[in-house]
Amino acid sequence: MTLSAKPQIWRFDNANALYYALVDTLTTSTNQIIAEGKRPVLALPTGNTMVPFYRIATEAQNQKDTKLNVSQWQCFNLDEYYPITEANQPYTFDSFMDQHFYSHLNEPVAFRKILNGRARDPLQECNRYEELIQERGGIDIAILGIGTNGHIAFNEPGSEFDSRTRLVELHPQTLMANFQGQALFTHAMTMGIGTLLSAKQIFVVALGKNKANAVKAAIQDVESRMCPASGLRRHSNVTWFLDQDASQLI
Ligand code: GLP
Repeated sequence: MTLSAKPQIWRFDNANALYYALVDTLTTSTNQIIAEGKRPVLALPTGNTMVPFYRIATEAQNQKDTKLNVSQWQCFNLDEYYPITEANQPYTFDSFMDQHFYSHLNEPVAFRKILNGRARDPLQECNRYEELIQERGGIDIAILGIGTNGHIAFNEPGSEFDSRTRLVELHPQTLMANFQGQALFTHAMTMGIGTLLSAKQIFVVALGKNKANAVKAAIQDVESRMCPASGLRRHSNVTWFLDQDASQLI
């Protein structure tokens, strides 16, 4: 880890080109790890930004001569709402992953895990998640979106850069963005910024004007806990996948 490392910034003219480049890059990176005889460990995101990514990845995976080998992937989701009940289950990231990714694969991934939003003891669940990641070999590649307030996973403004997987309270701006203010959840369990920084490689994806301020704060403004994504500067292998709108202020 180096302080203030320069990220790679890739700008794309259109969303499709961005998502195909992301899937291509991921294919190359994961295949390199597989060629070394290992099963890549991935930290996977949710969010509207990621819907086309999962669609293109599942299409690629289902092609006959595909190079994308998800059957070797070990997948950990970044975060999950807490607590989950019967009523709010459809809005969970567990449901999102099934709906957009896992249920479309013709070959299952080698391993999949998401924080259990029904756990009685969230602290124990979070600690166990960290242990499991280590048991599986540590995160090779973390794929992240970014919130309009600069959050990554559910590390809201104010999060410590060395934070680990834990229970957090969601920011009002996040609740508004994700549920238009509906009171479905107030908390979530999330990998910490320190957990994310332990990944060997990080991809961050942002599209649209509403992400431009967060992208600028993350990449260009003074590093601050008020923009959790600015902590990514402490990592030496970060690639930003941006469209013109999201990158208009940098
Ligand atoms: C979510 C997730 C993040 C995601 C962000 C942006 O709630 N916890 O992992 O990157 O908010 O979401 P969207 O892509 O819908 O803008």
